[in-house]
Amino acid sequence: MSDDIPHSQKIIILDFGSQYTQNIARKVRECRVYCEIFPYTLSPQDIARIAPRGIILSGGPASVLDASAPLCDPEIFKLKIPVLGLCYGMQLITYLLGGEVNPSSKREYGKAELMVREFSRLFKNVKNKSVVWMSHGDRIVKLPEGFKAPAFTANSPMASLENPIGKIYGLQFHPEVAHTVPGREILENFLYGICGCDPVWEIKSFAEFAIAKVNKQVGDGRVLCAMSGGVDSSVVGMLIHKAIGERLTGIFIDNGLLRSGEKEKVAQTFRDHFHINLLVVDAADRFLEALKDVIDPEKKRKIIGNLFIRVFEEEAKKLGDFAFLAQGTLYPDVIESVSFKGPSAVIKTHHNVGGLPEKMKLRLIEPLRELFKDEVRALGRELGMPDEMIERQPFPGPGLAVRILDAVTQERVAVLSAADKIILQEIKQAGLYRQIWQSFAVLLPVKTVGVMGDSRTYENVIAIRAVESSDGMTADWVRLPYDLLETMSNRIINEVQGVNRVVYDISSKPPSTIEWE
Ligand code: XMP
Repeated sequence: MSDDIPHSQKIIILDFGSQYTQNIARKVRECRVYCEIFPYTLSPQDIARIAPRGIILSGGPASVLDASAPLCDPEIFKLKIPVLGLCYGMQLITYLLGGEVNPSSKREYGKAELMVREFSRLFKNVKNKSVVWMSHGDRIVKLPEGFKAPAFTANSPMASLENPIGKIYGLQFHPEVAHTVPGREILENFLYGICGCDPVWEIKSFAEFAIAKVNKQVGDGRVLCAMSGGVDSSVVGMLIHKAIGERLTGIFIDNGLLRSGEKEKVAQTFRDHFHINLLVVDAADRFLEALKDVIDPEKKRKIIGNLFIRVFEEEAKKLGDFAFLAQGTLYPDVIESVSFKGPSAVIKTHHNVGGLPEKMKLRLIEPLRELFKDEVRALGRELGMPDEMIERQPFPGPGLAVRILDAVTQERVAVLSAADKIILQEIKQAGLYRQIWQSFAVLLPVKTVGVMGDSRTYENVIAIRAVESSDGMTADWVRLPYDLLETMSNRIINEVQGVNRVVYDISSKPPSTIEWE
């Protein structure tokens, strides 16, 4: 975690294991206040050192009544820093400050109407009967001394609590989820009205700061960056190039499993348009050879990952001495395990080019590790990247290999990428590209009978997959218009040799996954 970002007005979120903790951070940043998530065990001394403007205690799955309930140090309430406890966080405030919490006979889960019975700075401009999202079992039966409960719902006589003098607040519902209609107002009231923050967190100042930081970190060293054409590595490349110019070398490896025209597009954008030193390595034959006769998806992934590292290393060696490797690690990768288990939990860093830094003795630069995806996109825009690059749908590292449900061959890659190109063209033509999380073709190497002209055909099936999702963790199939499906099907069957049938995948995730392998 960095303390040196220009975010003098920082909020910290103590994580008690809520599934919504990331949401809280996102929502606070949407209010343009910088925030970071810490394990709930963060000590009052550390908090005092960080000197945040406010502390948010997240919700969590435990009950404060459990013997093993995660508790924060009650000293944090004496730091004179405003505190907002959400759900479990509110019960914790009650429990630690001498109130009483009981298991409720009625669990409250879902929407409820909020009623505010007396003035509270937290509910400024919040209308009575506003819909809020509840999810809790325990309820507060006795408030700690000095506290009042200005709001209620049908099932929660104390939907909020506060001690305005101590600046300690709690909400029984979740302002950070979309179902809570006045969520934004309530958070803004806490951030601006109670913590005294200003909406100053902006990507422009982050860009300037990050460029200066890379400059300082790298000195006169050289940096390598694996570029995939995806948003994260492209933004990293752009940022570092702004900082150190030609001392950055990007390496783009063509593994033969890319989308049609991808290599040319990436090379043209970065070399010609942005004048970044980009080495394009044509390793398609090596990958295809390594994947020969391999059917098992996990084996494919391993082979591709390992060969990627080998090729990258070989090429880097030829380029001379490098001290640093840049990676597009994002904040969700960092916080995935800054959780609940406390400081003993290892912070998992998701290496897009796994294993490289350790093997090559390179120092890591991860300039995006404080950002969420939409902030990365905003940063890309700030750095002058075209929308077309910034709004790209995700594409998996193992590429088309996990969309060919059999051994990968040159012919199969050719069939799949031709079908894929048509799907993408039509989705873009229909103006749907941006709102769809991913849309692509899958090659099912089952033969079916068809008829073309007067002849019988016996060829492969292409499945179209189009899903909407906000993070790839869950997804639903897109209700594409029939006419669009018809156009895609006609074009694929007519234009792609080796395909005589097209089907549409109508499975959601879970229980299916987005990719077929
Ligand atoms: P699934 O198929 O698990 O995919 O629902 C979720 C998201 O992850 C992408 N994906 C991968 N990305 N390497 C990657 O870099 C992989 O091996 C891989 N497998 C799946 C998938 O495209 C989707 O966005």
